[in-house]
Amino acid sequence: GTTLGAAAAETGRYFGTAVAVNKLSDSVYVGILNREFNMVTAENEMKWDATEPNQNQFNYTSGDRLVSHAQANGMRVRGHALAWHQQQPGWAQNMSGTALRNAMLNHVTQVATHYRGKIYAWDVVNEAFADGGSGGRRDSNLQRTGNDWIEAAFRAARAADPGAKLCYNDYNTDGQNAKSNGVYAMVQDFKARGVPIDCVGFQSHFNSQSPVPSDYQANLQRFVNLGVEVQITELDIEGSGSSQADSYSRVVRACLAISRCTGITVWGIRDTDSWRASGTPLLFDGNGNKKAAYTSTLNAL
Ligand code: XIL
Repeated sequence: GTTLGAAAAETGRYFGTAVAVNKLSDSVYVGILNREFNMVTAENEMKWDATEPNQNQFNYTSGDRLVSHAQANGMRVRGHALAWHQQQPGWAQNMSGTALRNAMLNHVTQVATHYRGKIYAWDVVNEAFADGGSGGRRDSNLQRTGNDWIEAAFRAARAADPGAKLCYNDYNTDGQNAKSNGVYAMVQDFKARGVPIDCVGFQSHFNSQSPVPSDYQANLQRFVNLGVEVQITELDIEGSGSSQADSYSRVVRACLAISRCTGITVWGIRDTDSWRASGTPLLFDGNGNKKAAYTSTLNAL
């Protein structure tokens, strides 16, 4: 293949990017998007604050624009994210108890129903585990509604859109560590008890403090061994030149070595599109030119 998407498709995988819908009027941005990618994730437009700004008043305008663009250009869509402690609307941020639990489940049901049939995979729950050595859940208003909030969210999502793959998604779970051990135990428990979960997303935000782990592939493999698919969902790697290019190719090779690693998504197109405050973590420079990291990624696919 001569593009990322076409090369990934040769092994039955996809290559995606996060998209900011307000950039769909930027011709350089859209040119790269339409040429290179065959999966898209809404960078912000399907999050709770965007889709339910007032309780029970839903706004799908921007999310629908992304779905339309994807459908018109032969791309699929990863849904991101139904339940998360961040980017909650103000009305939800200070809710608690049964009221918050019901509001969260209603949100999952309504949004997954709106997009039913249009989403390849949903990040049903995002970033619910704590950093550090505890291996336990992150404290949040959602967690304080009861430890079963995650499985309740997955059950609601399955009922609303039985055709979408349902994923748990997190960061700093890319190698074997206390946090990924906690997620692993949850997935193992969900599979044992029949809680509907199909995939685990590994965000894979890397930098010099947090490089691609040496056991990245082994960690993906142990999750696959539990009976779920794995996906690389928000890849970016700070750096430049050949060291950045080598890191990107390591990530791609790890995924391709695992049959149930079904796709890779980068978290933006050009370095200037990145959510990161500094650095050059993506595959295209600010002018839209292919970087060494692009070439190494394409060659590894
Ligand atoms: C980021 C977006 O890229 C930014 O535009 C926004 O201001 C904050 O969120 N993990 C996630 C993504 O799951 O939703 C985050 O996206 C990046 C970290």
